[in-house]
Amino acid sequence: MMISKGKHLGALLILVSILGCEQQNRYSLKRLDSVLLDESRLKVEVLASGLEVPWDLEMDDTGFLWVAEQKGKVSRVNPETGAQQNLLQLSDVWQERTSGLLGMAVHKDFKKFPYVYLNYTARSDSGIISRLVRYTYESDSLVQPFPLLEIEGGTSHNGSRLAFGPDGKLYWATGDVHDFTYAQDARILNGKILRMNEDGSIPEDNPDPESYVWALGFRNMQGLAFSSKGFLYTSEHGDAIEDEVNLIQKGGNYGWPHIEGKHDLENERDFAENNNTLEPLRSWTPVIAPSGITYYGSSAIPEWRNSLLLTTLKGKSLRILFLNGTGDEITGEEILFENHYGRLRDVVSGAHGEIYLSTSNLDWNPQPGFPLDGDDKVLKISPANEVSSTPLIPVNAQQALAQNGKDLYLSYCASCHKEDGAGVRDVFPSLKASGLINGDPAKLIDVVLKGSGRSESGQQMPSFAFLSDSEVAEILNYIRDEWASSPTSISHDLIKQSR
Ligand code: HEC
Repeated sequence: MMISKGKHLGALLILVSILGCEQQNRYSLKRLDSVLLDESRLKVEVLASGLEVPWDLEMDDTGFLWVAEQKGKVSRVNPETGAQQNLLQLSDVWQERTSGLLGMAVHKDFKKFPYVYLNYTARSDSGIISRLVRYTYESDSLVQPFPLLEIEGGTSHNGSRLAFGPDGKLYWATGDVHDFTYAQDARILNGKILRMNEDGSIPEDNPDPESYVWALGFRNMQGLAFSSKGFLYTSEHGDAIEDEVNLIQKGGNYGWPHIEGKHDLENERDFAENNNTLEPLRSWTPVIAPSGITYYGSSAIPEWRNSLLLTTLKGKSLRILFLNGTGDEITGEEILFENHYGRLRDVVSGAHGEIYLSTSNLDWNPQPGFPLDGDDKVLKISPANEVSSTPLIPVNAQQALAQNGKDLYLSYCASCHKEDGAGVRDVFPSLKASGLINGDPAKLIDVVLKGSGRSESGQQMPSFAFLSDSEVAEILNYIRDEWASSPTSISHDLIKQSR
């Protein structure tokens, strides 16, 4: 008896494993592209398609990928097969342009505490509001909505993102809803990073034990992520210039609306000194519209280990931001998929070091050439044995942005000094006619790096200290080649020495 039972069990196990294999084949994902890094070969597959603006992606500790779509749908996707289960459609979400279901977090210990936290915009008698609600996952559904907090919402600048910290607390990055007085006002919960216990109460060790506020001075954050060291990073939209990635400190002030990006203007430096504000790790002008961010700590893709992965909307790309050993500096930046899949909204990495990206080509701001077939999609990126004959290859951001002096001049200088260098009479000086571009390069470099105070016309030349040495050299060589009578070349070493 015993022996035959064992035999049956063995046969059953074989049968189960065959079925398992068949199932995997049946569900094989559609392969779109391959990517070639220094050593690693990667494949890009379609995990899910036919979605509508999948704003937030999260992994739970049981291995499922959670997808929140802007119009209020929440689903769970099997990251191997792509099988998708719809779990919830919010009934009270208000979705127009950039409002809607904007933030999601799953409990760190989901097996034990099957909670899903959602933040979305809604309308109430008092106007537009931004709700934070905890749902419980139970028998293939999200039930028992439990409201945690409600703050003012807006027609845009609602943020927002949610993330659990290694301390078991929930962090909420809120938007300033277009009110310039909010971000610096600690009594108001907009334009802040809020920190709370998993039941929505205020933790005793917040900077002010009576307040949710963990950090302040933000405009409109679109990414929020912890690293394995427990550092908290955000991505944020600047106004017309200066998109940012910040490293968040407890009680930190990040300067908005008095400071944009680096503290490179005189009035910014004054405000910074008086208010102890913190500078971004990186800022981008021209803007790229950064969105979801995640820390990549896996060795599955060794080239990207210890980096921040950042999706961009306007930039239509994935950025790889390489961190230094301590995690408080960005040492390099690469760009992948530029203009290839369109606007990218969120990114998360899975248990085996694979990466998931969501497209955002059906949102309020569609781009020429998009949406593509099957949009919006969730894409899966993972190591592969082979690459195609035409793999995609990341490019260095410096090269991609700073192709040549002319483009840099058009991006950074021409808005004031004009394309032909003639400036605007009595407002912006002509560079063509300026003695400075012919003379001692040191003075010219100084003006560009430091900017100037207000001129008689009340105008100001901004500081361009945020540009790299080679970018400044490119620009200056361009304007001297164009308009100086006997130009000599300015090296990036000379710029370095002048800083
Ligand atoms: C926001 C407008 C603005 C932008 C953008 C701008 N400038 Fe200026 N620039 C000015 C103003 C205003 C002055 C005059 C300042 C003064 O008189 O103190 C000036 C002065 C200068 C001067 C000195 C001219 C002279 O004869 O004294 C140089 C050189 C110059 N800018 C180069 C640049 C370069 C190169 C860039 C791009 C990297 C740039 N500027 C971007 C507004 C701008």
